[in-house]
Amino acid sequence: MATERTSLFIFFGGTGDLAYRKLYPSMFNLYKKGTLREHFGVIGTSREKLTDQQFQENVFKSLGVAKTDKDAEKFVSHFVYEAHDVTDKAHYQVLKKRADELDKTYKLNGNRIFYLSLAPSFFGTVAGFLKTEGLTDTDGFDRVVIEKPFGRDFDSAQQLNDALSKSFDEEQIFRIDHYLGKEMIQNIEAVRFGNTLVESLWNNRYIDNIQVTLSEKLGVEERASYYDNSGALRDMVQNHIMQIVSLLAMEQPVSFTDVDIRAEKVKALRSLRVYNVAEASTNFVRGQYGAGDNQRAYRDEDNVPHDSNNDTFVAGKLLFDNYRWSGTPFYIRTGKMLADKFTRVDVVFKKPLIDIFSFPQNHNAPLEANVLTMYIEPHAGFTLRLNAKTNGQGFQTEPINLDYFVDAKDSKATPEPYERLIHDVMKGDGTNFSSWQEVSYAWRFVDQIRKVWDLQQPQFPNYTPGSMGPAAADELIQRDHRQWVYRLNK
Ligand code: NDP
Ligand code: BG6
Repeated sequence: MATERTSLFIFFGGTGDLAYRKLYPSMFNLYKKGTLREHFGVIGTSREKLTDQQFQENVFKSLGVAKTDKDAEKFVSHFVYEAHDVTDKAHYQVLKKRADELDKTYKLNGNRIFYLSLAPSFFGTVAGFLKTEGLTDTDGFDRVVIEKPFGRDFDSAQQLNDALSKSFDEEQIFRIDHYLGKEMIQNIEAVRFGNTLVESLWNNRYIDNIQVTLSEKLGVEERASYYDNSGALRDMVQNHIMQIVSLLAMEQPVSFTDVDIRAEKVKALRSLRVYNVAEASTNFVRGQYGAGDNQRAYRDEDNVPHDSNNDTFVAGKLLFDNYRWSGTPFYIRTGKMLADKFTRVDVVFKKPLIDIFSFPQNHNAPLEANVLTMYIEPHAGFTLRLNAKTNGQGFQTEPINLDYFVDAKDSKATPEPYERLIHDVMKGDGTNFSSWQEVSYAWRFVDQIRKVWDLQQPQFPNYTPGSMGPAAADELIQRDHRQWVYRLNK
């Protein structure tokens, strides 16, 4: 059984899609594992009028278990509901009273987690009222969890952060990036810093380039009104990709603690070259999907304007100006409506300086580069591509793969990102959350690309559903005499 954690949770936006689809099922997993047992209570809030019982029934349904599930019954009995408009200052007193009651009932020691699963425009308001109306005046810990997006550019992110900082210190603020809760993303640190073989080669002397691909098969689905104001650059690059890249690029932390890991990630992001106009135009490519077989073009999706210039695809080259990475580019790409749903990192090593097997009489194909691929999803694992002798007479070489994949049983037991992250919040461990400094450096980089794009008229649509994005994304890397390790029609 896991160590039991004690806390009250208040979910703002407690009847929303995220809460029902991800947060409550993740809490239930924690309950089944014993992290949540007797000493927890949950208040769900939103403007909708619901009784405690109706709310409990909704939460029960969200768990996807049999009607007779006794664990689920006990779990939802810890949930209560309070109809609450987050802009109504006076009503926070009602919430406070309810919170104090649950605190007594379940002996929660005044520990409180405020989960803001709401439109970002409310984050500052709620944080302010929690403080001024006394919900944070307890003897236990007070932590606030903030969903994405954290601003839409550096200025708005800073305003939001200033608003939050009036009520909470940095170590009380947990900015969610659900990619940091993924098993294989956490494995990047284990593979890098747990293996002399890997870390001693992890630099520009031995690595030619690193490629990060977050590919999605689906389109915007029902989120077009959010997505059309965001685009792939803000939705995926500013947060998830920048976080992955910083884990790949950072120096070894002094210790495996949130403070030291964050310090190294920030240092890495500080040395990321912020592009001028010419560099941004050359090193970044955007795309938008057109129509395909049985698929509408992005501009014909519901709630998307017919003249939208929103980016549903981004590819780019990132350069770090530091001793470890100077001269070794990181190529990134992400998009909707691509060939498949997967996330992977390909680390391409330099080829041997001299290929002794390739002499005219031998007719051996040139040696291929070693590639370490980290498969993040859907199958978690690694492959390491090496050159080896082909079995038999003569001396030909061929690339072979050493591989490791998490087996189906282990993969079933892997915690969902939100389960892991909620657990981390209860422990007070900020390792897998974005610090303000990380967020701010990421915005500074992304803002430059955005500014340049805003000045130019794109030729959209420019890729077909089921492809790997526009031709320009291939040209971007081919210009450097390289190619994507994952590509269609090899
Ligand atoms: P929804 O629109 O589904 O839910 C919003 C919630 O906020 C509802 O419970 C709504 O209830 C409540 N709400 C709205 N206005 C108020 C108000 N004035 N006072 C109190 N409650 C209010 O959003 P999601 O659940 O999809 O998203 C929530 C957050 O999570 C957003 O920041 C989003 O960007 C982020 N997110 C969501 C993901 C997802 O998969 N859904 C993925 C990643 C991040 P009511 O209208 O009854 O008040
Ligand atoms: C979210 C984005 O942060 O990540 C979505 O807002 C995207 O647009 C999603 O689909 C992808 O997450 P995952 O875990 O399915 O790869």
